[in-house]
Amino acid sequence: MRKTIFLLAALFIGGAAYAQQTNPLLQHEAEITEIIKSMTLEEKVNMLHGKNMFSSAGIERLGIADMEYADGPFGIREEMEPHSWAPLGWETDRATFFPTGSALAATWSPEIAYEYGKGMAIEAKLRGKDMILGPAMNIQRLPTGGRTYEYLSEDPILSGELAVGYTLGSQDMNEAVCLKHFAVNSQENMRGFINAQISERALREIYLTPFEMAVKKANAMGVMAAYNKVWGTWCSENFLLQNTILRNEWGFKGLIISDWGGTHSTIGAAVGGLDVEMPGHTYMGEALADSVRSGAVPMEVIDSHVRNILRVRFAITPVPKDVANTKVTSQPETQAIAYKVASKSIVLLKNDGLLPLKNVKTVAVIGDNATRTMGLGGVGAGVKTLYEVTPLEGLQNALKGKAKIRYARGYEPAPQARWGQQLPANAMEEYAKRMEKLKKEALKAAKGADVVLFIGGDNREVETEGSDRTTIQLPFQQDELLKAIAEVNPNIVAVMVAGAPVDLRTVNPIAKGLVYSWFNGTEGGNALADVLTGKISPSGKLPFTLPVKLEDSPAYALGVYPQTEQGGGDVFVNLVNNRDRQAARRADAEYSEGIFVGYRWYTTKNVKPMYAFGYGLSYVPFQYANLNASVEDETIEVTFDLSNRGQQEADEVAQVYIARPDSKVERPKYELKGFKRVAVQAGQTTKVTISIPKEQLRHWNEFQHAWNVEKGKAVIYVGGSSDNLPLQTSVEL
Ligand code: GLC
Repeated sequence: MRKTIFLLAALFIGGAAYAQQTNPLLQHEAEITEIIKSMTLEEKVNMLHGKNMFSSAGIERLGIADMEYADGPFGIREEMEPHSWAPLGWETDRATFFPTGSALAATWSPEIAYEYGKGMAIEAKLRGKDMILGPAMNIQRLPTGGRTYEYLSEDPILSGELAVGYTLGSQDMNEAVCLKHFAVNSQENMRGFINAQISERALREIYLTPFEMAVKKANAMGVMAAYNKVWGTWCSENFLLQNTILRNEWGFKGLIISDWGGTHSTIGAAVGGLDVEMPGHTYMGEALADSVRSGAVPMEVIDSHVRNILRVRFAITPVPKDVANTKVTSQPETQAIAYKVASKSIVLLKNDGLLPLKNVKTVAVIGDNATRTMGLGGVGAGVKTLYEVTPLEGLQNALKGKAKIRYARGYEPAPQARWGQQLPANAMEEYAKRMEKLKKEALKAAKGADVVLFIGGDNREVETEGSDRTTIQLPFQQDELLKAIAEVNPNIVAVMVAGAPVDLRTVNPIAKGLVYSWFNGTEGGNALADVLTGKISPSGKLPFTLPVKLEDSPAYALGVYPQTEQGGGDVFVNLVNNRDRQAARRADAEYSEGIFVGYRWYTTKNVKPMYAFGYGLSYVPFQYANLNASVEDETIEVTFDLSNRGQQEADEVAQVYIARPDSKVERPKYELKGFKRVAVQAGQTTKVTISIPKEQLRHWNEFQHAWNVEKGKAVIYVGGSSDNLPLQTSVEL
């Protein structure tokens, strides 16, 4: 027994020493201690809030550079005025628009996510930035969530592994990431004050796990506190989230910044764990210095915030001001990464033989999204691109000299009244006339074509930060247009350019081919054309469930979303404290579905989706065989054969789901616990091994307030989609 204890102690100390030795944030502790000793209170507090809109101060006296932050998660945002949201209108800041979050997630590849993070880092460095404000990695709880497209997946393991890849790729290029938004920032409606009322188990197992993985497995250097509340406390002053869990339990050593305007107090934020208020200094400027002088905030708290910032500052080499912005941001190397991600993200949902396009002479390309660029939009996540290949341009590139393309816009977005303005009285009447004309032109283009490529879906005004959609219906009367086109030409391939689920009840029976091609970045049009023409086989898999109808999704089915604002605060608080009128507003988000988010809900409640989580077809048939599983020390080793029974090389994303039939607690029917993207040559068979850490089968015990890994049977399912798992075996834990 004594020997065991000694061994465990040695392992623990060794582990801690190894973490200290390997974590780039912990290589300057003694130097930082000396610097802090030399600093005045004013110098310290000066670091703890925004200097400009996207920077916080270093220590000028000591030549320690400012921290430069850069939106957004899928492209380095254009340069802004130092103290406003106004762009500077430069040309050198034209960046690569990388595929958005759900597109990256549709690759199901941490390796591709690594390249993605590397690409983002290369462009951030060219712009002199120290920390990318990404990945955006909240769980996709709502199909209508305004930022569901920015985020990664409805599943914590898939989201976590991709965030780990992105983080390692960026930080290996000496560019810090900032995991956002911590935590449970699942909706845009009332995002400034919505209060997540959520079970401890759902919080831990679903919403925090991706962040935990990126901190523990990739040493993420930054975390952004979310706008919302969790259990009644703002995230930016949530001691439990920021200190107890993030720092003390997970060992996070980096810096925590608020979301922009998401700080709500001085003492609460400083003691609650926030390091930097962004932007401005309402709470963590002079008010904080006063709080230290009065003894309300101990100097140790200030010193800990300064330490966290200096850890990142010393880990990230500043880019000299005379080097930054001397080359255009978007580079061939990063454009190539954007293409690779896009080409591996496209999901083939249906193919009645029209795809890939072969021997077509006349192609009708119809839809506003065939020519619409998607880089800009979505507030902080907008990218001013050097270029963006639209679907039409991609098809023109791929079909040049092979087929004639007829383009018709078919529909256009409805006119929208801008902030505080009214639409002209006849605006909708004029819109109806234009739409009628566009429809006629579309039908003319479709008639007689060998195939119709309908390029529809959403756009970056429909899916955006700041507001949730109220429906997942295709906007702008696309369903009606599709029905009309089908009357004149049944050979339709429908391409959904969207970042979140859309209602496919009209499209699905009409289209003979159906593709999800995402907001797919600077090279999206070329990637789409290469898939449609068969140059590459589609290999993307859905990172979220596509429900038959919105009401089937958990929060809607339980009637807990959308919420109505409660009370709205008293007039006095709203009037007097208008800076923080958010604090007077009230709304609770009841996470009544608990851990049953996404496919966990549909599979367990037997609600059939339109297309399942993890679903995606290929141009080749894949075969799974010879499954074996064994428990080796702390992992479950899963091996099986994967055969490509087709005529071309193709990737398959093999998925492993695990059920615990003897569990003592309520569990989903099964849960994703492992996956691997595998390239298999035509006619070949490859042996696939997926190692699953036993701790990944953990569940949160709400009585012990701790993780448990239950003993007993683990049933292992393997296949190419959560609803197609041909192999099954089991092991005993
Ligand atoms: C926004 C977003 C956040 C972004 C920040 C700076 O409101 O929530 O993701 O990084 O402000 O633009």
